[in-house]
Amino acid sequence: MKVAVLPGDGIGPEITAQAVRVLKALGNQGLAIELESAPVGGTAFDLSGDPLPAATIAVCESADAILFGSVGGPQYDTLPRAQRPEQGLLRLRKHFDLFANLRPAIVYPELAHASTLKPEVVAGLDLLILRELTGDIYFGQPRGVRTNEAGEREGFDTMRYTESEIRRIAHTAFQAARKRSGRVCSVDKANVLETTQFWRDVVTDVHKEYTDIALSHMYVDNAAMQLIRNPKQFDVIVTGNMFGDILSDEASMLTGSIGMLPSASLNAKGFGLYEPIHGSAPDIAGKGLANPLATILSTAMMLRYSLNQPAAADRVEAAVRKVLAQGLRTADIAESGRPTVGTQAMGDAVLAALG
Ligand code: IPM
Ligand code: MG
Repeated sequence: MKVAVLPGDGIGPEITAQAVRVLKALGNQGLAIELESAPVGGTAFDLSGDPLPAATIAVCESADAILFGSVGGPQYDTLPRAQRPEQGLLRLRKHFDLFANLRPAIVYPELAHASTLKPEVVAGLDLLILRELTGDIYFGQPRGVRTNEAGEREGFDTMRYTESEIRRIAHTAFQAARKRSGRVCSVDKANVLETTQFWRDVVTDVHKEYTDIALSHMYVDNAAMQLIRNPKQFDVIVTGNMFGDILSDEASMLTGSIGMLPSASLNAKGFGLYEPIHGSAPDIAGKGLANPLATILSTAMMLRYSLNQPAAADRVEAAVRKVLAQGLRTADIAESGRPTVGTQAMGDAVLAALG
């Protein structure tokens, strides 16, 4: 098995280093995993002028899965869009057709207090946001800034979804729900947007093949509200690229910290890119403060979905639960006034818990 490691920018290198230690520890215990690193994002731009160099794509193509840190930083925000770090990630998603983005939000009992919501609202929460990742207004053409007929400058983007794009993510959602509590809520803005009325119609049609699954629909503004009012009403939420981007950040706060949420981005063949949903956090980069658990949990998803090593995935997740039960906390998940540990010490603890 080969894993391409793309640390990226900001806290990316620190957090992926801890996840790599976990993979190496599993390697020492008999799981043959080869690792190869490659630059991406601003780091790659600094080296070569391209946030996704051809050599990095080649490393990913030679691998069974990609472990990704994070990209972006204020020093790159004024570059032309094609050279910005985020393009490295968006192009990777498109290149490998990683249309299915799984973003589970689980509240660990020990962290229910870390949420800004009342513990009883979030305790026991276990939901899956399934975000379509290669379509929508993120990739729709045309887009740009132009001078309109009235002579005024205007910015424009295009929201669009093809039927086949909606069908495949709907199938993924219903199949994922079968392994959970059998409920799918499709989130759209069908009261206003043509694209998402079409989304609703196609999801409803695909649902005819899944009579064992309960399907509901919700407008995105209501979904944003329901997520903080009563998040436990949800099991699988399926939605488009942009709504999924927003709702998954919101859902992360239910769990206490965005530093806890892993993700998997899969194509039809099961090849995947695994990354924490948080960003590059330039304010704490290089300080050894970042929470590595979202990235470590992303390696567990990698072991499960792309490397077909469910037992190893269970072990990594159990190790994370154990360190939380032991009381180890990085600053983002600590109760105020309580002691905290840094990135490396959290990694040490996970390794020790792995045994
Ligand atoms: C995410 C991020 C990315 C996105 C950025 C970095 C391009 O916010 O993975 O949620 O918008 O998809
Ligand atoms: Mg996001």
